Amino acid sequence: MKLLTSVIVALTAALVSCSPIEIEALATHSCVCGTKSFTNADIVGAVNKGYTTNPNPTTSSGAYPHGFHNSPENFSFPWCSGGNYVEFPLKTLPAYTPGNAPGADRVIYQTGSAKTFCGCITHTGASGNGFVLCKNS
Ligand SMILES: *[C@@H]1O[C@H](CO)[C@@H](O)[C@H](O)[C@H]1NC(C)=O
Repeated sequence: MKLLTSVIVALTAALVSCSPIEIEALATHSCVCGTKSFTNADIVGAVNKGYTTNPNPTTSSGAYPHGFHNSPENFSFPWCSGGNYVEFPLKTLPAYTPGNAPGADRVIYQTGSAKTFCGCITHTGASGNGFVLCKNS
């Protein structure tokens, strides 16, 4: 009984200390690109790896991460709009190692330390070298 009470006290303290920003940071996403499913951990790993590799990529080609101009695709991303988009390969963990083959799948996020995740895109099911949106949920 004493243990149960202290667990309840600890849980209540944890809930009360959560600010709305911390709750928002707990939002989880997943992507299905073609037949490949990616977890929130895969997505967070890709965005963090892209950001630490180069926090402010300026070119839209060459080494990853690089800029993504969203033209001509003009995707409506589910979790952000506008800003400067960054593209980085999406793999099941461990995250993509720069220099390796990038595969078909990408995360898109915005430049800036917030690392705002926008959605996933893939070459799978696209024509030519184009992209289509993954199922973002
Ligand atoms: C992009 O799509 C939006 C609607 O999602 C539309 O308002 C806008 O005109 C489009 N831009 C181009 C360049 O096609």
